[in-house]
Amino acid sequence: ARLVVLVSGSGTNLQALLDACADPAYGATVVAVGADREGIEGLARAERAGVPTFVTRVGDFGSREEWDAALAEQVAAYEPDLVVLAGFMKLVGGAFLASFGGRTVNTHPALSPSFPGMHGPRDALEYGVKVTGCTLFVVDEGVDTGVILAQSAVPVEDADDVDALHERIKVAERTMLVETVGRMAREGFRVEGRRGILGA
Ligand code: GRF
Repeated sequence: ARLVVLVSGSGTNLQALLDACADPAYGATVVAVGADREGIEGLARAERAGVPTFVTRVGDFGSREEWDAALAEQVAAYEPDLVVLAGFMKLVGGAFLASFGGRTVNTHPALSPSFPGMHGPRDALEYGVKVTGCTLFVVDEGVDTGVILAQSAVPVEDADDVDALHERIKVAERTMLVETVGRMAREGFRVEGRRGILGA
């Protein structure tokens, strides 16, 4: 399966996918990495792996809708089977979802539907939950509201601050991402109502 991965930051989830794709038995290849900003480690990771990159910045366009359509065009050029949002900090909208809805997944560092949005680990810590985790879902027009394909639980420790908790989540998150994207690539997936089901 051809993967396009979109990133906005350090790209540790991307790196886990790049490493997994090195094994032909995994069944997927990262054909391009896109970002909404320059100069991030995620792009450097792609370049080190010899993977083509592109940057589509909101500020370069007259409106959010124009950016969204331009991003969809950039992604389409690589003819992906699956688009993976891995730490991509922008919401994709109508034009993008018209092209890639149903085959775009996003990883979120909380157990959906709890703690959607930009600060999942912080919100979980502040709420005082004892268990949080990460979620892989099929992107829809909402904020972290899509059909769930996989989740992984992570304990919150009493001494945690946001960074310690997020780092612990990210360990589970890259395992969840690699395992689930691999199964989707090799076995397919389907959605039945609100249920995401892996395997043909
Ligand atoms: C991940 O936890 C992702 O879920 C969240 O931000 C983090 C990005 O990490 N949105 P990285 O860029 O993959 O290292």
